[in-house]
Amino acid sequence: MRIYREKDYEAMSRRAAQIIAAEIAHNPACLLGLATGSTPEGAYRYLVDWYKQGLLSFKDVRSVNLDEYVGLAPDHDQSYRYFMQSNLFDHVDIDPANTRVPDGLTRDAKAFCDEYDAFIRAQGYVDLQLLGIGRNGHIGFNEPGGCFVKETHVVDLAESTIDANARFFASRDDVPKQAISMGMGAIMGAKKVLLCASGEEKADAICGSVLGAISPSCPASILQLHPDVIVVVDEAAFSKLAAAGFQA
Ligand code: GLP
Repeated sequence: MRIYREKDYEAMSRRAAQIIAAEIAHNPACLLGLATGSTPEGAYRYLVDWYKQGLLSFKDVRSVNLDEYVGLAPDHDQSYRYFMQSNLFDHVDIDPANTRVPDGLTRDAKAFCDEYDAFIRAQGYVDLQLLGIGRNGHIGFNEPGGCFVKETHVVDLAESTIDANARFFASRDDVPKQAISMGMGAIMGAKKVLLCASGEEKADAICGSVLGAISPSCPASILQLHPDVIVVVDEAAFSKLAAAGFQA
């Protein structure tokens, strides 16, 4: 696990974008595992900028997203498909046919999830998986629980996650209660993982993930078992690691 300790959100975003751009330069037809949330917004902004400057092309890039809310249509402004379109896909030359986000309106979730995993497996897994982290240590929507779930699956969102995400909706009641999330099999199968976090409210989750016991009670702790993880955090998200004497 390599840790980049950056001064603030902007520096974290730039570093994450550099790592993603390097992956695309190295492998123009790479399969990117993409994430949503406020954490990666800045990195996507840098990638769009660099694309507009002609420094980078997504022409042959393929992508699979981590998760989607159950019940939200792709054009709902809080759906993760909408997020990806408005933060990245609509502004670069990626082929829309090469982008995948779980279908929040699927009528047969089990078949959909099986197909999602089969697709990722058939591609030889993701080349670079971008991750944010929940305050409770969730990655994708793999919430704390009694076991790590391997497959893409339907998740009941933790009350704390509903609270955290309520800021994006008109009211807490509007936050979907379920999501479809890539499981740990697809995440751990990725050749490289890029975990990003910013802000003091992520400091416990980052400390638990890097130094804590590997346990489904802190889902991101499983990343300690992955051979190629890059963690990019700002000072605030690093603060609990610093207090524990961790050097980076
Ligand atoms: C959301 C997403 C995660 C994201 C996390 C943190 O619920 N499912 O993929 O990493 O919570 O979000 P944010 O970056 O907005 O803090």
